[in-house]
Amino acid sequence: MPDTAALASRPPRTEFLPFAPPLIGAEEKAELLDTLDSGWITKGPKTERFEQEFAAYVGAKHAVGLHSCTAALHLALIALGIGEGDEVITTTFTFASTGHAIQYVGATPVFLDCDRRTFNIAVDEIQSRITGRTRAIIPVHYGGQACLMDEIRAIAKARNLYVIEDAAHAAGSEYKGRKVGTLSDVTCFSFYATKNMTTGEGGMATSDDPEVIERIKVLSMYGISDARRIWQRYAPKGSWWYDIVELGYKYNMMDLQAALGIPQLCKLDGFNERRRHFAEMYNTAFADLPEIEVPEMLPYVKHAWHLYPILIRPERLTIDRNAFIEELRSENIGTSVLWIPLHMHSYYRNRFGYRPGDFPNALHIYERIINLPISPRMNDNDVLDVIGAIRRIIDRHRR
Ligand SMILES: Cc1ncc(COP(=O)(O)O)c(C=O)c1O
Repeated sequence: MPDTAALASRPPRTEFLPFAPPLIGAEEKAELLDTLDSGWITKGPKTERFEQEFAAYVGAKHAVGLHSCTAALHLALIALGIGEGDEVITTTFTFASTGHAIQYVGATPVFLDCDRRTFNIAVDEIQSRITGRTRAIIPVHYGGQACLMDEIRAIAKARNLYVIEDAAHAAGSEYKGRKVGTLSDVTCFSFYATKNMTTGEGGMATSDDPEVIERIKVLSMYGISDARRIWQRYAPKGSWWYDIVELGYKYNMMDLQAALGIPQLCKLDGFNERRRHFAEMYNTAFADLPEIEVPEMLPYVKHAWHLYPILIRPERLTIDRNAFIEELRSENIGTSVLWIPLHMHSYYRNRFGYRPGDFPNALHIYERIINLPISPRMNDNDVLDVIGAIRRIIDRHRR
C-alpha cells in the first residue's frame, strides 16, 4: 500500500468506475452455452445441481433455488405459517424486500432501529417490541457482516418465535465459524446482479427442515403437488398429470440462472477474498482521516464485504453527503446510498405514520453514508483511485 496521504496527488480517473459490476468469466459463458444447447432452459437438472451444491457449501441440509431473495422471504413466511394479523420484527435499515414480504402475507412489519456501529438490527430493542402477535424476527446481515445470531436465537427460542435471515448480502459470510445459511429456520440469499455471486436475478432459501423446503418448492411452482413434475413431464418417462394443491406462485429459478450460479459459487470464496483485500486497503487508507468513519468489523464474523460504507462527519466538512457524492461522480467514481431506511419512504410513512426521527441511528447513518465501489472485478489501482479521490475531496472541503 503506497503512502496514503500522497494518494491525493494521484491523477483523477478518466473512465467511470461502476459501483458493483459482476465478474463473469469463461466458465459461466461455457455453462450458459451448455444450457442453451441442452434443449431445456428453465427449472430442471441444473437448478437442482445448483441447489445441492449451494446447500453443501453453506452446510445446510436443503436448499431451493428461486427467482429472487424477495421471493425466498415471501415463501419462507408462508411456509412457516405467518399471515394475517401476525407481527414480524425486523430493522428499518434494510431494502424494500424485507418490509414488503412481511406485508405480502398480511402480517405487519415492526421496525426496530439499527446498531450505530454495524448497521445491523438493534438486538437490545427486540424484547420490548414482542407482543402476543409476534411470530418471527428477520435479521438482515448488513453488507455481509452477520448479526448477533446467538442473542437473536436465544430471544426467539425463549419467546417461541421463528427466525428468518435476510442474507441477501451474506453469501459466504461466517458467524462464529459457521456459514450463514444454517443459523435459523430459513435463510434467504440473493443473487441479484450486484451481489457477491450472481445469476442476474436469483435467490435461494436454505433450511435444515425438509418440510419447510418442500413447501417452499411447491409454493414456488404454482402450488403443484410435486414441483419436479412440472419439468419432468416432458422427459421420456414423464407424465402429463399434475395436481394443484394450493395457491402457489411462479417463483422458480431457471437453469439459465443456475448455469451462472454453479461457476459463480465455485468462485465465491475467491471473490470474497478480493473484497476483503479491497476493504482492508480502504480501512488502512482512511484510518488517519477524522472526517470519515469506516465500518466496524466485529470479531465473531467473517465479513463478506458485500458493501463498503463510509460515514462522513459533516461537522468536519464544508459539504454534506450529497455534495460529496456529486464530487465523487465528477471524479468518475460510482457510489450508492444503502439505504434510505424503510420508514422514511412515502409508502411506509403513509401506511404506518412513521417520522424520520423515529429511528435515530438509522437516520444518523442515512444522512452520512456513502457506499464506495467494491467488486471482485476491480483491481488495486481502482481502489487507489477511489482513495485518491476521497482524500482530494476532503482536502478541498476540510473545515
Ligand atoms: C437486504 C436485502 N434483502 C433483499 C433484497 C432483495 O434481493 P432480490 O433482488 O434478489 O429480491 C436485497 C436486494 O438488494 C437486499 O439488499
